[in-house]
Amino acid sequence: MKITVSKNGPYIVIGKVPLSTSEICNDDEGYCRTWREVKRYPLQEKYALCRCGHSNNKPFCDGTHAKIHFEGTEAGDLETFDKNAEVIPGPALTLSDDKHLCVHARFCMRAGGIWNLVEQSDDPEARDIAIEEACNCPSGRLVIKDNENGKTIEPELDKSIVVIEYPPRNEHGPLWVRGGIPIESADGKLYEIRNRVTLCRCGRSENKPFCDGSHI
Ligand code: FES
Repeated sequence: MKITVSKNGPYIVIGKVPLSTSEICNDDEGYCRTWREVKRYPLQEKYALCRCGHSNNKPFCDGTHAKIHFEGTEAGDLETFDKNAEVIPGPALTLSDDKHLCVHARFCMRAGGIWNLVEQSDDPEARDIAIEEACNCPSGRLVIKDNENGKTIEPELDKSIVVIEYPPRNEHGPLWVRGGIPIESADGKLYEIRNRVTLCRCGRSENKPFCDGSHI
């Protein structure tokens, strides 16, 4: 399985990568809390996903990028997450946070926010909520480590791509690439392979191919 960013064009996805659409759901207090799968696309050996934001057949490319002269120059950082992330230590957990990757999925806001929860992570309830919030962060902006064994706590994600939608705010989010699918730039360089990353699909990110929240 592999995703290739094409120059001023779509993402070319090969290797029968499962594709679906999921919505972010709020809890009773209005906090982003869970995911709900609303659509599963037929499995295809190869497909092209729109990254210019103007296809009439989203999430697939329909060639409109050429008509609008889409400028898809990548600014994506080839550095590793660990190099870019700020480290926030707490008593039981350590949070690594790369703000540039934020897609505003907002799972990190509940119960005082993940930053406070990590600082209070000697409290088991705060610890559990902090882990849940980090694991729900689709872009991998937020990554949690257990101080006791030094291991990163990651959700188990099958290799797949999820189109993110957030109906309560009518926001059409990025493409959530899960499970460590390699992503190659238009000039043939491999980005760091990660369990969770999000790719821009509105065409406006300043951090292409990754989403920077500009769709909002
Ligand atoms: S990238 Fe082809 S229509 Fe958007």
